[in-house]
Amino acid sequence: MDKLRIAIPKGRIGEDTVELFNKIEIGKSVDLKSRKLVFYDEENNIEFVLLKNADVITYVENGVADIGIVGKDMIIESKKDVYELHNLKFGKCDMCIAGKEDKEIYNRDSVIKVATKFTNSAKDYFNDKGQEISIIKLNGSVELAPVLGLTDVIVDIVETGTTLKANGLKVLEKMYPINSMLICNKISYRFKYKKINRIINKIIQAEGGNKDD
Ligand code: PRP
Repeated sequence: MDKLRIAIPKGRIGEDTVELFNKIEIGKSVDLKSRKLVFYDEENNIEFVLLKNADVITYVENGVADIGIVGKDMIIESKKDVYELHNLKFGKCDMCIAGKEDKEIYNRDSVIKVATKFTNSAKDYFNDKGQEISIIKLNGSVELAPVLGLTDVIVDIVETGTTLKANGLKVLEKMYPINSMLICNKISYRFKYKKINRIINKIIQAEGGNKDD
């Protein structure tokens, strides 16, 4: 049977992914702490590649990886064309607008300054609300922007709220919930659907059997 290549993101989601894969007995050799980026599971004929969170979707869309695990935030932001096959039970957080307490986020008479890594997501959201904004793209430590007066608010993911609290900021509006998703290349799904569906079924079993929990 054809070899399957699975893209795993490093970081928090990577740890949850490897834990799940251990439960369904694939990718036992994957070691997130090593400097190696490719691991081969000979028994199941699956290759695992470790990537930056934001790059998983690029590898899957191009068919270099057949399936991948990625946050819904990245799927919405990248607008890339992949199948979203299964909602996973980890990586749960919210995409939020945050800022200093009592900061107004809607004002028809002015342009709100927004700092974010998720520029497309922020533009689409405020556009739907009819609020004009100017975006400043940042690559991390986004919370600093309203603290130092670079912008009025931020759009970012909030998991525990610890980072906001530590910097004197608050959630001003929850935009939408996020969780991790098993994504698949459209052509891979056509040609390798048996093997892919077998993995998804095992995941559903390991999660307790109920697909929509
Ligand atoms: C994310 C996000 C927040 C933080 C929220 O950053 O950008 O800064 O996590 O989590 P919390 O609500 O539990 O504090 P991440 O740790 O992914 O690092 P990054 O800024 O490098 O993306």
